[in-house]
Amino acid sequence: MSSVPLRFILRWLRRLSLGLVVLVAIWGVGRLAQVVWDSHYTGPREPYLQVVSHDGITLRWQSGGEEVGVVRYGTDPARLEQVAREASAQVAHEVRLGGLQPATRYYYTVGSEDAVYRGGADYWFHTAPPPGTARPTRIWVQGDPGYWHEGTRAVRDAMLQWSAQHGRPAGPPLDLWLTTGDNAYSSGRAREFQEALFEPYADLLRNIPYLPIYGNHDARRWTFYRAFSFPAAGEAGGLASGSARYFSFDYANIHFVVLDSESGDLSAASPMLRWLRADLAAHRQPWTIALFHHPPYSRGGHNSDRWRDSWGRMVDMRERFLPALEAGGVDLVLSGHSHVYERSHLLHCHYGAGATLRPKMILDGGGGGAAAPYRKPAGRVPLAGTVYAVVGSTAKLDGGPLDHPAHAVNRRELGALVLDVAGERLDGYFINAHGEVSDHFGIEKSAATAVVERRCGE
Ligand SMILES: [Fe+2]
Repeated sequence: MSSVPLRFILRWLRRLSLGLVVLVAIWGVGRLAQVVWDSHYTGPREPYLQVVSHDGITLRWQSGGEEVGVVRYGTDPARLEQVAREASAQVAHEVRLGGLQPATRYYYTVGSEDAVYRGGADYWFHTAPPPGTARPTRIWVQGDPGYWHEGTRAVRDAMLQWSAQHGRPAGPPLDLWLTTGDNAYSSGRAREFQEALFEPYADLLRNIPYLPIYGNHDARRWTFYRAFSFPAAGEAGGLASGSARYFSFDYANIHFVVLDSESGDLSAASPMLRWLRADLAAHRQPWTIALFHHPPYSRGGHNSDRWRDSWGRMVDMRERFLPALEAGGVDLVLSGHSHVYERSHLLHCHYGAGATLRPKMILDGGGGGAAAPYRKPAGRVPLAGTVYAVVGSTAKLDGGPLDHPAHAVNRRELGALVLDVAGERLDGYFINAHGEVSDHFGIEKSAATAVVERRCGE
């Protein structure tokens, strides 16, 4: 008597589990179709510049149809005598120009064999100076800029106005344009990239090389790695990583390192960490700036002390990657994710939670502004001090206590960071949406500053 209901139950359990598998499969196929569809955009897209070096640059655009892309370029806008063509017809065009002169303005048109899609006196770019050249360099760093609204417009206009009033009255307002991730809310859809970036910033994108960092919102669709080019092969200096997810490049006398804190393997044995150590050991630039999305120190919208926050990625970056970055002499680390601005003291060896910060880990607790820059020895010295900045409030603002002890300055206001690097001096200006410099820090390197051999834990 009792085996009949048991057989009955087992039969129904089997049917139920089969039904569940079918439902999950249908959901999965639907989800995949949605991701593919959302990552797809075949309409027109204005030209944008990628992967600049002293002798090359990549131009990308979409003209709305499938054709062989053609770039005509030269230093005289009336005579664009050089031509580069794609090998086959495409909808999304990507053309790498090589053999260029360093620190030179080139004009260009993009289009097809028969027609110019965009071009004219306003379409130009500047190549980088020869690697190692101590030429003044201005970099704009947007933090989590993935919405376009009046606030983000004000942040952009404030930067342009400030730049024109401070050393760049003519020529490009910037040399490089970077972000700290989350570039198109809410899910990194191709349409969202159009609305948050390609359409509102078209005037800047055609002149200034742009490099976005990969954030968790970008990771929800496949647009990011389709729309942008990355120097995985060391095209612009640095040790080739073989990956678009983490790489390095040089500009003037600055070495930039980009890490993937979102989808990468953050373990102690990760290929990214192995590559990072080798890259930092190999380069010869006096300045090193690292960028990744998840901040090692933050108490804004995200709390870097919490393992459960963001799947422990902030903790992993701090515990596993900061020791390698500091041992490699990195001067500045830029992240986003928390939609605030937080900027640290000059630190070393602080790899635990906020409560474990000790006075000896703060090499200089000053404001680091114009009058009292953080001082470091010349060149690259291990553990000589690193400044950490969370730049995440270009488009959104978060709550959070803003009381991480690693930070000297905390701001809850829309803005973005301008970096000026000139010779042995680096200055950071956080310019808010009202056009005010609400933080200014400086790092100065000098042979007069003694080299101290340091180890953590001593
Ligand atoms: Fe984020």
